[in-house]
Amino acid sequence: MSGLVVAMDGPSGSGKSSASKGVARALGLRYLDTGAMYRAVTWWMLQRGVNLEDAAEIAARSAEPALVMSTDPDAPGVTVDGVDVNGPIRGPEVTGAVSAISAVPEVRRRLVALQREIIAESLPGGGIVVEGRDIGTVVAPDAPVKIYLTASAEARALRRTAELDGTTVEAQRAAMARRDTLDSTRKADPLAMAADAVELDTTPLDLDEVIAEVLRLVKERV
Ligand code: DC
Repeated sequence: MSGLVVAMDGPSGSGKSSASKGVARALGLRYLDTGAMYRAVTWWMLQRGVNLEDAAEIAARSAEPALVMSTDPDAPGVTVDGVDVNGPIRGPEVTGAVSAISAVPEVRRRLVALQREIIAESLPGGGIVVEGRDIGTVVAPDAPVKIYLTASAEARALRRTAELDGTTVEAQRAAMARRDTLDSTRKADPLAMAADAVELDTTPLDLDEVIAEVLRLVKERV
């Protein structure tokens, strides 16, 4: 029996994480947060004092961090070299550095290979919902269901501000705009919508409505 892969791409604050976990739970699938993988490698590079402006140094060390992912939608997480980094990878230091690390082709090559292994391992058990920026275009181009989530800049900034302490909507809007530009203009696997993806604007929807719409699309396509 071949399993199901649901690719969920889109910019930060588009509602990918909550929706992806909800869809995985509803369908009894695994869940993979690929952004957490880029964040975990970034945390490791910062810990080792790697120069973020030196792509050659980042590339040379990209095979060193050992990542282990939990794909349980009720308890997702990542460890690097055995260290639980789920707290620190959401902090401002990692968030400010992750675009530089994720633009390095060697980092992407290694993480894409790992993501494909995790996807392959999930298939006998039913499949997986994978969220990221390049899932429908690069990681799993054959995924039968590809969703590209968007939301207005205002809605995205409001959602992120509600998730974080000590920030403002304006600061979040500026930080997201910067990250969007870096993520969508980099040479290696930029944020992009696959030609066969369905675009879903989540601005007017609450979480349950987004999940219901994705489940409807899954039913329609599979
Ligand atoms: O989804 P997130 O905000 O946790 O992702 C963190 C960063 O990782 C984001 O700025 C872009 C990068 N990323 C990527 O390049 N490719 C992915 N598949 C997932 C995330």
